[in-house]
Amino acid sequence: RPRTGTVRDLEGRVVVVSAGGTREPIDPVRFLGNSSSGKQGVALARAARARGAEVVLVGANLALPPEGVGTYVPVVTTAELRTAVRAAASDADVVVMAAAVADFRPAHAPDAKIKKVPGRAPAPIELVENPDILRELATDRLRAGQVVVGFAAETGDADGDVLDHGRAKARRKGADLVVVNAVGGGRGFGTDDNDVTVLDAAGDVVATAHGSKDEVAHAVWDLVAKRLA
Ligand code: CTP
Ligand code: CA
Repeated sequence: RPRTGTVRDLEGRVVVVSAGGTREPIDPVRFLGNSSSGKQGVALARAARARGAEVVLVGANLALPPEGVGTYVPVVTTAELRTAVRAAASDADVVVMAAAVADFRPAHAPDAKIKKVPGRAPAPIELVENPDILRELATDRLRAGQVVVGFAAETGDADGDVLDHGRAKARRKGADLVVVNAVGGGRGFGTDDNDVTVLDAAGDVVATAHGSKDEVAHAVWDLVAKRLA
């Protein structure tokens, strides 16, 4: 398989990639967040660029503004990510949701910092569910023929193994491809190596890939390019 920059099979294509992790304010100085590094999303954006695509990277709380990705749109909350991704997606051939999106947000975030009161238990934080951006993109198809790709970080549990959960998620989301990533026990989040299984909307395995986040990124674009052709 050709390597980084050697194939220009995304020339003339517009792709949107979301990366990082969204944060939901609890008060002006605190948030509900997650530990996504954004590395896989940035690797996807760079790989797409190397293959000739015009790239819009929507980055949620990335530590540094990434270099060499094309257009970079920084966002904080899930609502901001959703607006930015949907705006860019209306012109895009491909949307890849690599961001770790907060499932819930505090129902109310006061304008002033929450204070502790000695001897009084803290007030519970009421949460409301965020919209499922990937599911919406897969349902709405903001541009005809658009390829929609999701990611799923899974651990096994009593209800099933990593692939069982990935399969159920792929069917629920309706995305063309879902990249299932085994996490926990040092795998996935923040690490440099990855083991992924790519499923289609029916939950069937279309490919597996192992290696660096760059290698995984190129494996994903190989599959996307095939669908665009
Ligand atoms: N995603 C999204 N909007 C959300 C939650 C998730 O677009 N509100 C996207 C992620 O960007 C990812 C995919 O959906 O591409 C799967 O995210 P994941 O958190 O694994 O799935 P959930 O449906 O939130 O299920 P759960 O967290 O319960 O496993
Ligand atoms: Ca989730």
